[in-house]
Amino acid sequence: MSKATVIAPSNIAFIKYWGARDLERVLPTNPSISMTLTRCVSHTTAELLDEGGADEIFLAGDDGTLTSAPASFAHRIQAHLERLRAWAGRREGLRIATRNSFPASAGIASSASGFAALTLAVVRAFGETPTPAELSNLARRSGSGSASRSVLGGFVEWPARPIGEELTEEHAHAVPLAPADHWDLRDVIALIETGPKDVSSLDGHRRAPTSPYFEHRLTLLPERLERVRTAIRERDFDTLGETVEEEAIDLHLIAMSSKPPIFYWAPGTLTVLEAVRELRAEGVPAASTLDAGANVHVICPPSSEARVVERLTAIPAVHRVIRDRVGPGPADSEDHLL
Ligand code: DP6
Repeated sequence: MSKATVIAPSNIAFIKYWGARDLERVLPTNPSISMTLTRCVSHTTAELLDEGGADEIFLAGDDGTLTSAPASFAHRIQAHLERLRAWAGRREGLRIATRNSFPASAGIASSASGFAALTLAVVRAFGETPTPAELSNLARRSGSGSASRSVLGGFVEWPARPIGEELTEEHAHAVPLAPADHWDLRDVIALIETGPKDVSSLDGHRRAPTSPYFEHRLTLLPERLERVRTAIRERDFDTLGETVEEEAIDLHLIAMSSKPPIFYWAPGTLTVLEAVRELRAEGVPAASTLDAGANVHVICPPSSEARVVERLTAIPAVHRVIRDRVGPGPADSEDHLL
């Protein structure tokens, strides 16, 4: 039986995907820019079954045990398997096993790494070799737009298409901005809440245009995107950090003012944001960002990492700190889960 295993990382957005032109087709309103991570990964094996065989989807434990995936989770995966079969013109069933190195649905983009790993493992099991653009588009069609960025390493933009310009499938993939070794940046993640979030990103995208600030942010984005591209190119941490914080606050401002409103923050979130401002005042370069959750990602240069870890670990609301960093993207593995 043909099988393939892939380990794919999550990513953290500097400029956020929040709101879509077409949610069904996963075409975002605005371009987003992210950094692909290293340690927060999904590890996925895909094994081909007989033609017409029923798909089997398992969650893999660290001890090698397999349990059937809950129906809601299996349903999303199966819908994606249908898409991948249609793309490859194949009819075989698939047996899938997957596990994450970090808590799912906790403001760390588990769908991004999960669907990037699934897409890659299945195309490898089929023996296909799509281009990076095709792969990114396939991952995007999973419904997790951020997965389209996780198939690439380093610093990534998705899509490379200005706001308001027509966006067809042809241009809807992610593109590399710079490889991981261009700039060694760290992401110290403060885990404040590890359970699933109350409102999915999908609902957040749906509600975003109901916020009075949604349109206003779009007017600020062309300049903000350019600032982040330039800061990455020139390795300018101060400009990057300032812009990344503006973006994170705007995402949550829009979420909080959507109808009905979405509050992702927990009390500990504010404590961490304050700690990062204090660190900066003490001369330690660091900047906060958040996805759709309560956890805070602290982006910093290597020279700040130990101080950031020490400060965040001392906060009682922080259950755990994950030290992550920019990385080269997904990799094939022989460590099969099936
Ligand atoms: C706030 O629709 O890609 O993380 O499938 O849950 O990963 P998931 O969400 P998706 O939206 C991502 C929203 C965001 C910002 C971002 O990553 O750009």
